[in-house]
Amino acid sequence: TVLVVDFGAQYAQLIARRVRECHVFSEIVPSTMPVEEMLAKKPKAIILSGGPASVYADDAPRPPAELFDTGVPTFGICYGFQSMAQALGGTVAHTGRSEFGRTQLRATTDTVLFNGLPEDQLVWMSHGDAVSQPPDGFRVVGATESSPIAAMEAPDRGLFGVQFHPEVLHTEHGQAVLRHFLYEAAHCRPNWTMVNIVDEQVERIRAQVGSKQVICGLSGGVDSAVAGALVQRAVGEQLTCVFVDHGLLRKGEAEQVEKDFVAVTGADLKVVDAQDRFLAALEGVSDPEDKRKIIGREFIRVFEQAAREVVAEAGAAGEEVEFLVQGTLYPDVVESGGGTGTANIKSHHNVGGLPEDLRFTLVEPLRELFKDEVRRVGEELGLPAEMVWRHPFPGPGLAIRVIGAVDRHRLDVLREADAIAREELSRAGLDRDIWQCPVVLLADVHSVGVQGDGRTYGHPVVLRPVSSEDAMTADWSRVPYDVLATISNRITNEVREINRVTLDVTSKPPGTIEWE
Ligand code: XMP
Repeated sequence: TVLVVDFGAQYAQLIARRVRECHVFSEIVPSTMPVEEMLAKKPKAIILSGGPASVYADDAPRPPAELFDTGVPTFGICYGFQSMAQALGGTVAHTGRSEFGRTQLRATTDTVLFNGLPEDQLVWMSHGDAVSQPPDGFRVVGATESSPIAAMEAPDRGLFGVQFHPEVLHTEHGQAVLRHFLYEAAHCRPNWTMVNIVDEQVERIRAQVGSKQVICGLSGGVDSAVAGALVQRAVGEQLTCVFVDHGLLRKGEAEQVEKDFVAVTGADLKVVDAQDRFLAALEGVSDPEDKRKIIGREFIRVFEQAAREVVAEAGAAGEEVEFLVQGTLYPDVVESGGGTGTANIKSHHNVGGLPEDLRFTLVEPLRELFKDEVRRVGEELGLPAEMVWRHPFPGPGLAIRVIGAVDRHRLDVLREADAIAREELSRAGLDRDIWQCPVVLLADVHSVGVQGDGRTYGHPVVLRPVSSEDAMTADWSRVPYDVLATISNRITNEVREINRVTLDVTSKPPGTIEWE
């Protein structure tokens, strides 16, 4: 493994992903982790990430000095570079001049880091302080106009550092620099591949589960599908998947789970039709948080009931269900403190959170994976592209896209409009450019229109196509006008009651992706 020591910026996850893109496994550890604990993980290399602090700040996280005597090849980036320089006796100065954005670097190319790369290259900078004197024994191997010491290395001691951010795409040769460190300096082997991940997880699941029964709640989304498919491959005979149809799904979704998931994996699927129950509970409710609470509560009850039935059926066969599959991803694990326990799952990850009194042990085969890796594992397992590349869809479903109270009729209207938008965006080949495209029904708003010779008095829908990397921030997608025109024409022609289509051109922040 390669340890990415997190100094508190958002860069650590990006670095960990870039390392994995070099086919080397990486994990993020907090900068407060004692060195012995890091070494216990037997790292092949250590990378110190950037961070928001100045090395001069009193509360600045500092790498312990003995970290640099471990003999493990170490690469400092930005703040990690400065703290390495400072810890080893170099000087870091407040230059008063910060460098931000694309910067021209002059690199020395008869070096480990820049071997074979052009002397002049663009790098991405973001810093205030700068290294003004390298520690003894280091060779300065890169400079920019404002930072004469922008890269340094001491290959005999396995120590390397750069002031710029090799992990961001704006750094032209960043991935090559990282590769040089991993392959040449640390002798890492590129053996983190999808085939290996699948094999390893299948082994681990078998070891964890033994001959016990397992259940898996499918949401129709990517994560639960891939987690379920892995468990199916490992211990298929012992797995029951449960899909709760709460009536707030998009058109064709329940059928798709049957068709795409069951057909490919051969999993045992229990579909629970709970539409009436959810709609009854939601009647007359228009406050978004109330909707979420009600849906979460009902979901838990229905899932518990289904789980009891599975337990009862399995019990008759002499086995008890002990394990519950969860599609927890690595960012959830990192964000919740990186603990290995099962207590710190974010409730947002599941539909309304896990039932607390369900006494299952969790099986979490995606705990080490990023979203893009999950998608590739899904492809490796043979899940269809429509499922693997599906856009995120919120647990509370269409209920939070009907603005106003939810009822069956309103849901049907929205479902039709949503299906048209999805179909046309796919037809235009935009699925992978767009993160997701909520279609929102303004059910309490009426708008006047004209159709044929008659006046209409219908409702508007809002198209909300956004591009994003992680849903934390987003921008509205510049969908071509002709695609928007087709969507608008089709929706207003094919969905009676909708006589107006509008486009949301708000970024996040300040808007959120969903309207509720
Ligand atoms: P917002 O609207 O907060 O959405 O910008 C960010 C991402 O989260 C999804 N979302 C939810 N997912 N339960 C979920 O499982 C929810 O209550 C929920 N609310 C928003 C949203 O679709 C987007 O991907």
